[in-house]
Amino acid sequence: MSTLDVELVSVSKSFGPISVVTDIDLQIPKGEFVSILGPSGCGKTTTLNMIAGFNAPSRGDIRIRGRSQVDVAPERRNIGLVFQNYALFPHMTVAENIAFGLKMKGTSKAEIASIVQASLRSVHLEALADRYPKALSGGQQQRVALARALAPRPSVLLLDEPLSNLDLKLREAMRAELKDIQQELGMTFIYVTHDQEEAMTMSDRIVIMWKGSVAQQGEPGEIYKNPHSTFVADFIGKSNILSLSTTSKAGVAWDVKLAECDITLRTANGSEDARYCVIRPEEIVLLSDKSSHHEDMNVLSGTMKRTINLGASVEVHAQLAPEIEVMVVVPSAQYNALPCLGQQIRLGIPYHAPRLLVE
Ligand SMILES: Nc1ncnc2c1ncn2[C@@H]1O[C@H](COP(=O)(O)OP(=O)(O)O)[C@@H](O)[C@H]1O
Ligand SMILES: [Mg+2]
Repeated sequence: MSTLDVELVSVSKSFGPISVVTDIDLQIPKGEFVSILGPSGCGKTTTLNMIAGFNAPSRGDIRIRGRSQVDVAPERRNIGLVFQNYALFPHMTVAENIAFGLKMKGTSKAEIASIVQASLRSVHLEALADRYPKALSGGQQQRVALARALAPRPSVLLLDEPLSNLDLKLREAMRAELKDIQQELGMTFIYVTHDQEEAMTMSDRIVIMWKGSVAQQGEPGEIYKNPHSTFVADFIGKSNILSLSTTSKAGVAWDVKLAECDITLRTANGSEDARYCVIRPEEIVLLSDKSSHHEDMNVLSGTMKRTINLGASVEVHAQLAPEIEVMVVVPSAQYNALPCLGQQIRLGIPYHAPRLLVE
């Protein structure tokens, strides 16, 4: 038996002449929390709808537990769904909402009662079983929707931006809760979001989509550390993305000249055809001495342009040349030691920090 729960094999989808999803390959093992992450309009919902069976792929195959789903109706795929707008039945209590799908399936009364109890427990709503949706907060309603989707014990749960109608605090609390529920149940979750923080905090694996294709997939930390394109570097976390004019080999390292200025950086990560250099803001250090040489480090000087206090950390923007501004993130403990606006600021960029990218 296959341990892959869901598999997409070269899946494409066009609406008339417009190609919306192109050649997606995904292999999702049982029990994994996978996020499909990308900007609005990149084809996330279309992909989810094909897995659910609401849309047929134009090309390619979708397999669930090894079996092609091309001819399988949505209600026979054993998949649960949670969407952005909870769509609870307003005239039914919480318990009745959760029981609805089970009744339709002809489950016995006793069994329904026990499943409803278990579902309520898993979303911490035991006390609200007899309430009507209008007497619940947005977060509680979304939890009922989740319990309703979990009740028939689907093998896979598809979630399409389920938290985007909630305010920030609640969204953060629900992230942790969703992850806990997923781990407790050992269920496969496929979670669609445009919110990179959401994807980073919950997922075992992130699939980044752009313009209908997979731009990169991998573990959150790995994608953050090693983005394969400027799009991914920009979309996941914050980045300094600098254009290059030339690259040349310098022993085992590379020297890259930045476009539109006289700055050359040494980097340990080279490639001849690189056109961009990406540096994460927390990899740059502020230098307090006047020395122009630091071991294994580029030393640059510029002008302090602005600071943005983020509470736990400070974002420092330094102007290195008329067209080159670089962002550095330092702990806020360093805030008082920062140069004043307009004064000189000196930066150290370790050779291992700049990553060179072709696109
Ligand atoms: N039924 C449809 N007919 C025509 N175009 C569609 C249809 N559904 C989605 N699209 C288009 O496909 C693109 C991707 O949509 P969608 O999958 O909803 O993106 P996302 O969920 O990433 O925001 C959008 O440009 C959208 O307008
Ligand atoms: Mg969508």
